[in-house]
Amino acid sequence: MTWTYGGGARVYDALSGERLVYRRGRIAGIDLLELREGDTVLDVGCGTGLNFPMLADAVGPTGRVIGLDRSFAMLHMAERRITSNHWSNVTTVHADATDFSPPDVGVGHVDAVIATYSLSVIREWPTAWECMTAILRPGGRAGIVDMQLPTGRAALLAPLARLACAIGGSDIHAHPWTALRASGHQYSEVTLRGGHIVAAAATFPNWRSSRDV
Ligand SMILES: C[S@@+](CC[C@H](N)C(=O)[O-])C[C@H]1O[C@@H](n2cnc3c(N)ncnc32)[C@H](O)[C@@H]1O
Repeated sequence: MTWTYGGGARVYDALSGERLVYRRGRIAGIDLLELREGDTVLDVGCGTGLNFPMLADAVGPTGRVIGLDRSFAMLHMAERRITSNHWSNVTTVHADATDFSPPDVGVGHVDAVIATYSLSVIREWPTAWECMTAILRPGGRAGIVDMQLPTGRAALLAPLARLACAIGGSDIHAHPWTALRASGHQYSEVTLRGGHIVAAAATFPNWRSSRDV
């Protein structure tokens, strides 16, 4: 059985293992982004907006949070979160992560971009990564939080991790943060939950195009 981000949107927050396992990863990833008050940050594959409270807090009332997802059902849940929190500076965009450009997001560029647990779901994640870095301003920071097989003693839990990823439609071997490590500056990485979660971020000093990735 594989999760569908359409039909499962209403129960995603409750069933995604957020409290038990995955929340720590998003906290670490957002921390590594080093957001400042007034920043604009794009959350790629934002889902139901679980990152929004921390992102909105980090950029403050003068900043902007933009969530991008291709699932209307997930975006609907994200919109509900925005409404119930009365955030006037958090918005969503319906787009495919592998095929968007700054005008689709309604900005010239962003100060930071993040993808939490979403790139491993996207088979063509390197193309999504190209789009993410192309929208980043020079000196902006990109962050990725994603999953791999647990390591060391926690490797015993590998079957469980494999099952969770298979249900969520994630490729546990995608390791999308390797793109960040390969091409970014000031790379930082944290591994959590027995190595199952990797949170990473890096700075990109220059304008980037698909040629650079
Ligand atoms: C595992 S969920 C992660 C959601 C959220 N980032 C989080 O941390 O909870 C993966 C999300 O990626 C979205 N997604 C999958 N493929 C996508 C694509 N090609 N473009 C945009 N979003 C996509 C799904 O709709 C889903 O909301």
